[in-house]
Amino acid sequence: MQAPIGVFDSGYGGLTILKELKQQLPQYDYIYLGDNARAPYGTRSFDTVYHYTLEAVEWFFKQGCSLVILACNTASAKALRNIQQLDLPHMAPDKRVLGVIRPSSEILGTYSFSHHLGILGTTGTIQSESYPIELAKFAPEASIFQQACPMWVPLIENGQQDGPGADYFVQLYIDQLFAQSSKIDTVLLACTHYPLMEKKIQSFLPEHVKLVTQGDIVAKSLATYLQNHPEMDQKCSKKGQLQFFTTDNPASFEEQGSLFFGQKIAANHTDLA
Ligand code: DGL
Repeated sequence: MQAPIGVFDSGYGGLTILKELKQQLPQYDYIYLGDNARAPYGTRSFDTVYHYTLEAVEWFFKQGCSLVILACNTASAKALRNIQQLDLPHMAPDKRVLGVIRPSSEILGTYSFSHHLGILGTTGTIQSESYPIELAKFAPEASIFQQACPMWVPLIENGQQDGPGADYFVQLYIDQLFAQSSKIDTVLLACTHYPLMEKKIQSFLPEHVKLVTQGDIVAKSLATYLQNHPEMDQKCSKKGQLQFFTTDNPASFEEQGSLFFGQKIAANHTDLA
């Protein structure tokens, strides 16, 4: 049986990834799920994020999906390893769950000349140390400097990304990152919400610094994965259709989500039952 590719985030952020997937791999069907009723995940404990993410993955499997992308750094950092190693083998050995941290880590080092890399993410992603651990494999020559930006997701989820409050908090966290090293020449937005403030963030960075977002990286990595795994590709339906689900109010999701996705969307509610 063929089914759509599942794309998951705590809220709206994963739509910045889905937008790129649809652009680069338009032939596939996608189901997006935003757990808006329980977002943000960034400040929650390891166990809570793992438990919520596992529930979402089980929901995707009930929809028939064989492949699920955790388009959320926090969920990738706190839940992916457990799901891959502890849950999938007995729950659904033929299904796959992929995250966004590994593909980003595979490529990030290649952008840098100074080998000083900056990572901006939620408190959960930064405290998990997932990026330094992954980057040690793919960019062992690089020094990694991390900064948690706990105010950015709430500003974005509340539509305040262009307001003066956002200016203050963008400046604050950028200053804190560069206080760790003035040699940083490459900065990763390691949270799928942050591309909504990309222009603002870029304007507060020194001019020579490259700002990296994850949509393009994740789409290219998924394309390679599907090429290398024809057995999985065969399980993915290809009618170019999109479906959107939220655990909260669909009307709000449609309004706010269209900003992240860049076009109008129609959303349904699910209580993950
Ligand atoms: N979009 C999520 C990420 O990439 C974070 C949002 C949240 O804190 O729930 O980490």
